[in-house]
Amino acid sequence: MNLILMGLPGAGKGTQAEKINETYHIPHISTGDMFRLAIKEGTELGQKAKEYMDQGALVPDDVTIGIVKERLAKDDCKDGFLLDGFPRTVAQAEALQSLLSDMNESIDYVLRVEVPEEHLVERLAGRRICPTCGTTYHILYNPPQQEGICDNDGSQLIQREDDQAETVKNRLEVNVEQMKPLLDYYHDRGYLVTIDGDQEIDHVFKDIQSTIEN
Ligand code: AP5
Ligand code: ZN
Repeated sequence: MNLILMGLPGAGKGTQAEKINETYHIPHISTGDMFRLAIKEGTELGQKAKEYMDQGALVPDDVTIGIVKERLAKDDCKDGFLLDGFPRTVAQAEALQSLLSDMNESIDYVLRVEVPEEHLVERLAGRRICPTCGTTYHILYNPPQQEGICDNDGSQLIQREDDQAETVKNRLEVNVEQMKPLLDYYHDRGYLVTIDGDQEIDHVFKDIQSTIEN
């Protein structure tokens, strides 16, 4: 099963991707996570990506397409994959089409998780992540058992750098603008399914399951 998760910042892509990965065992490929790892490791890619991410801008298409191409070539993608946060521009979508056709693969569903824009700021402001295992929490909607501490490994939770109020504003603007033509692109090709992301996390996941299992 080859899936794409689409949605504005804070819509719940990463949260649902963790659940899809646990249930269906397909690799979760998040370009945002790949860039954050590169930043942490201090690589050249990380230095480049950081310039854009800190401003809430998109990393240039050639860089982003390059890392996805490398990742999809790995063996664990042969039985399916879940792309989270890619593609984000029509140029990326076109590059993906041609990559997949070279691999004799195609997309099964583009799952667009839709949440009213006015709720997204609150979701991003309350998000906390584990620097060790990457698990995502929310101070109100998905809190850890002990405040500020990861359930899995006891690490102190942190806020993502691009969740600062100023950066969030720009991220939302940039993504809203890029999203419309991308939705048209996948709608016209018959891949697009809209999931109501403005429900409890488990309900959103149930809707995703009923889409991909029917
Ligand atoms: P990326 O890491 O992809 O960030 P994003 O798209 O801004 O999305 P987020 O990770 O912020 O949100 P999410 O939808 O995963 O929400 P989450 O599940 O965490 O990208 C970061 C940056 O990298 C970009 O700005 C760009 O610079 C660069 N980049 C990445 N991909 C790129 C590309 N393809 N091209 C160019 N540049 C690229 O949930 C948010 C919060 O809400 C959490 O606290 C969660 O617990 C909570 N929550 C989740 N679901 C619910 C629910 N149903 N109800 C209540 N709370 C919920
Ligand atoms: Zn952890």
